[in-house]
Amino acid sequence: MASAARIRSNYAVVLAALVVAVAAIFIADTVTDYAVAVAIFHTAVMLVATRFVGVRAVAALATACVVLTCLSFVLTPAGDYKIGLINTGISVVAIGVTAYLGLKLKGAEAQVHEARERITRIARLTTLGQLTASIAHEVSQPLAAIATSAGAGRRWLVQPEPRTEKALAAVDRIIREADRASEILDRVRRLARNEAPASSVFDLNAAVTEIIALSSSAAGASGAMIDADLAEGLPSAFADRVQVQQVVSNLLLNGMEAPAVSKRLRRLAVMTRAVGDRLRVAVADDGEGLSAEAAEHLYDAFWTTKAGGFGLGLTICRAIVEANGGRIWTEASPLGGACFVFDLPVAGDDT
Ligand SMILES: Nc1ncnc2c1ncn2[C@@H]1O[C@H](COP(=O)(O)OP(=O)(O)OP(=O)(O)O)[C@@H](O)[C@H]1O
Ligand SMILES: [Mg+2]
Repeated sequence: MASAARIRSNYAVVLAALVVAVAAIFIADTVTDYAVAVAIFHTAVMLVATRFVGVRAVAALATACVVLTCLSFVLTPAGDYKIGLINTGISVVAIGVTAYLGLKLKGAEAQVHEARERITRIARLTTLGQLTASIAHEVSQPLAAIATSAGAGRRWLVQPEPRTEKALAAVDRIIREADRASEILDRVRRLARNEAPASSVFDLNAAVTEIIALSSSAAGASGAMIDADLAEGLPSAFADRVQVQQVVSNLLLNGMEAPAVSKRLRRLAVMTRAVGDRLRVAVADDGEGLSAEAAEHLYDAFWTTKAGGFGLGLTICRAIVEANGGRIWTEASPLGGACFVFDLPVAGDDT
């Protein structure tokens, strides 16, 4: 409210200054000789007016300037009448042209402003859409696991002789998955806000083993088996553990969903290695591999060849890996299908 009042009072001050300038020009134009074309200074008033005041005020000022220029011509007592007439004509045309061009410019500026606002709005919507889809994508796995464990727990309880210890184990799994879902939400939020990952020193093989165990029910459901080929004596990793698990989980899911070559049991493999001062994780499958088109668009947001796919899994993987100081790429798969590899920094002395 206070700023609206300030804008109104600034507007009034500018308008008053313009009116004073117009009056001063009129007086100077009238008292000077016809040969002195003081009225041309009205164009400067018009330029200022188009910059600071509204369209109607500009039109009113332009009209006033033209009328006063003509009046001044009539009232000017001295000089060559012909020169006065020419100067007056030039001034009137100049005032009209300046006002017209100034208003046109103002309109164009308004359009640019509006277009910019529209673009910002669209960009915000796109970000919001991506954020929503990313959250849905990342929490759908823990949610599915929660539903599975809840179903199992219920079955253990409704038996003629309820197996409470089994039901309790299912409840524990539900709690773990719910915690994981909320951790994932936190990570997606961080990613969307461009915040640094919550890095810590951790055992990469333990994190990978954990996520393989969590993915095993999904693997079983899709008729796949996950082999782990984890190098011994790896140095500790320095990254966001939950995010690294999200990447492995997304890559495993893609492997399970990859078009199969034959009907036999699908095979997936997760490998960990130390290469120089980096750690590498590879997720391979024995599917059909990547088509040329897929290879080109893998990391494009919303690019998918699956009926129910978001096309976000790999986009999220790349965002996570890069936020953690790594890179993600594809290699020839030891199992014949696709193989995604990413690297991570090892924990140094200062971490
Ligand atoms: N292991 C793979 N084998 C073959 N094609 C793959 C593999 N991984 C990814 N692709 C191709 O890359 C596309 C993009 O994968 P991405 O994980 O980003 O999205 P999506 O799996 O389609 O959907 P979602 O967002 O649910 O993960 C897939 O639709 C698929 O065509
Ligand atoms: Mg995917």
